[in-house]
Amino acid sequence: MTDPHARQAELQALFDSYVDAGLKLDLTRGKPAAEQLDLSNDLDGILEGFYLLQDGSDVRNYGGIVGIPEARQLGAEFMDARPEQVMVGGNSSLNLMYQYVEHMMSIWGTNPIKFLCPVPGYDRHFTICEHFNIEMINVPMFDDGPDMAMVKELVSQDAAIKGIWCVPKYSNPTGNTYSKETVEQMAEIAKVAGENFKVFWDNAYAVHDLVEKGDVLASILAAAETAGTADSIVMLGSTSKVTFAGAGISFLATSISRLKAFEEFLSDQMIGFDKVNQLRHVRFLKDSEGIKAHMARHREIVKPKFDLVLTKLEKHLAGKNMATWNSPRGGYFISLDTRPGLATTIISMAAEAGVKLTPAGATFPYGRDPDDMNIRLAPTFPGLGELESAMDVFVTCVELASLNAELV
Ligand SMILES: Cc1ncc(COP(=O)(O)O)c(C=O)c1O
Repeated sequence: MTDPHARQAELQALFDSYVDAGLKLDLTRGKPAAEQLDLSNDLDGILEGFYLLQDGSDVRNYGGIVGIPEARQLGAEFMDARPEQVMVGGNSSLNLMYQYVEHMMSIWGTNPIKFLCPVPGYDRHFTICEHFNIEMINVPMFDDGPDMAMVKELVSQDAAIKGIWCVPKYSNPTGNTYSKETVEQMAEIAKVAGENFKVFWDNAYAVHDLVEKGDVLASILAAAETAGTADSIVMLGSTSKVTFAGAGISFLATSISRLKAFEEFLSDQMIGFDKVNQLRHVRFLKDSEGIKAHMARHREIVKPKFDLVLTKLEKHLAGKNMATWNSPRGGYFISLDTRPGLATTIISMAAEAGVKLTPAGATFPYGRDPDDMNIRLAPTFPGLGELESAMDVFVTCVELASLNAELV
């Protein structure tokens, strides 16, 4: 076995050589690579001058906040809902989430309002809460979804808790998919949490499988309809990581009456979303089979990047008791936990050596990771060569920081 001090010196020399190399690598955001965006270039010009819908309306004109019928059908397939429950929005589902929370704020009133946040989670959900001064409560995330016993206990004790953020499939960043039991319990949570409680069901990675037979997520809206709680469900999704991240279409699904109320809320600020882009997406993706075939092409590009990251972690960190990580079956992230208290140090060491990582704490409300141990790795954007260099730096930082802490 190598003497730990000798290994520390070896790693320090390696680290110094990375610093000297002046690298500029970025593993921060889950963005598709240009090669993935290229898969959808046929969106451009696909309409070839045909702007009329089956019902004869012209997508170039004003109107239709809920979206064109053809895109609502596509959204229904994407979201596992019925077309009449679906609204098709602009290029960002995050924008719909923000708008929906804003819509609910007038209904919830000005009392203290709290949300449950399964952690680690998606930083931009937390930003929305901070914007509206909504207090966030951490809930641990298990392999099959959030700790439902804790969720039930908290909502039964505190009427100020009005919502929960869920990324139910290939969760950001932990990659978990909620089990059927978790989906069923979440569908019925409003029975305990009360009227106007909302489950924000952000299914951002609904079709983003890294394996041929991806995880199957039960339909929460169908379960909630059976339970009589459909009003509490707000499902969200988008084609951001299917077609163009900055020019896709988004979906929101809820009960028909709640959709009507949200449509009225939006009608004070707009006449309709970009229906030309909705039609382009329908012509390009066609239906769920079309989406599936398209996502298989994404998988060919993305899978080798995940494999590379996992191989590097395995080769350099396995069996050292310095980090644990997940091997996701889909989604955009690998979530890694360091030894407690080391994430901030590792991230700043990586930055010094030219590798930008998501800031420490970003996956927790208020940017505060209570154990300072979670690091989110986003492998999709860099090329394989860059990713390899970034991972070499990263694993060096993890091992060196762990040894530095151990040997003081
Ligand atoms: C969980 C989750 N929701 C939403 C988004 C953003 O979606 P959109 O591009 O539709 O706004 C992301 C992007 O990273 C995400 O990870």
